[in-house]
Amino acid sequence: MSALLKVKNISLRYGKKPSTLAIHDLSFTLQENSSLGVVGESGCGKSSLAYSLMNLLPAGARISDGEVFFKEHNLSTISKDDLQKIRGKDISMIFQDPMSSLNPYMRIEKQLTELFSIHTNLNYKEALEQVHAMLSYVGLKDTERICRSYPHELSGGMCQRVMIAMALLLKPDLLIADEPTTALDVTTQAQILQLIKNIQKEKNASLVLISHDLGIVSEMCEYTAVMYGGSIVEYGPSDKILRQPAHPYTQALLDSRPRLVGSRGAQLPSIPGTPPKLQEVPTICSYYNRCAKASPKCQGPFPRLEKLEENHLSRCYLNNEGA
Ligand SMILES: Nc1ncnc2c1ncn2[C@@H]1O[C@H](COP(=O)(O)OP(=O)(O)O)[C@@H](O)[C@H]1O
Ligand SMILES: [Mg+2]
Repeated sequence: MSALLKVKNISLRYGKKPSTLAIHDLSFTLQENSSLGVVGESGCGKSSLAYSLMNLLPAGARISDGEVFFKEHNLSTISKDDLQKIRGKDISMIFQDPMSSLNPYMRIEKQLTELFSIHTNLNYKEALEQVHAMLSYVGLKDTERICRSYPHELSGGMCQRVMIAMALLLKPDLLIADEPTTALDVTTQAQILQLIKNIQKEKNASLVLISHDLGIVSEMCEYTAVMYGGSIVEYGPSDKILRQPAHPYTQALLDSRPRLVGSRGAQLPSIPGTPPKLQEVPTICSYYNRCAKASPKCQGPFPRLEKLEENHLSRCYLNNEGA
């Protein structure tokens, strides 16, 4: 197995001074045919991470530090033309809101076949055949009708499937899904997640799945990264993160998940306080103010992401003996 994606110490800022530090010192490696779930509360930097993986930054955002490597390409220094070739073909993205990637004024057929004309030499007939095949693959029936439709003529679940079809058309090696089911009802959510999981396996693609739901992420992905205040605070195999979480934030996230068995009427524990909004790299652990286990030694410098055992890392003084 070799590394498909290497993220090295990236930081991302929004706006001019005083700018918001949305991501800092964030690193991970994703192997070929593997999957990583990224989880954390709203505002912790998950979407910013997704944008930086494709070097597709919203206005006002800039990567102020670090590098992203995709195969042999350094996406931070690559030319715009080369980046354009990789995006949508080798790396593609599924967004939370299908309307952000579907053009409301264009019929589905045109939007999907257009991808082939940009990235391949297929003629229109061949491209259209592939579009129909992919729409069926993602579970859409009557693909003739879907192709003739404008996005607003389709339901939310159908649009989401169309977007997934679009993301898969050119058989990408890496699929990035940013909260792909948040806007959908529970039944459709489950179907779409299952679809993404099957696709990842069948197409031998790698997946970065972003969600605020630790349960979803750990079930879907081999590895889980827990984000807090713009950086990864714990990383490890998903079953390890679920069964033996090391960081107090991961433990609190797990405790605040609703359970089927439990005392009826009991209040669900929640994490007191709100996540930080950063301008500078914090001088102490960014979870310190909310941490139920905080001790005086936690006021040391901002902790490093340290190895607890093979593939399991945590950014916490309490996890590191003698610290
Ligand atoms: N376009 C933007 N301009 C300025 N600040 C932003 C912008 N997008 C996000 N942020 C800020 O960056 C931080 C991370 O946001 P985001 O990546 O959207 O988090 P998440 O996806 O985990 O909810 C937040 O503090 C948010 O307010
Ligand atoms: Mg987001």
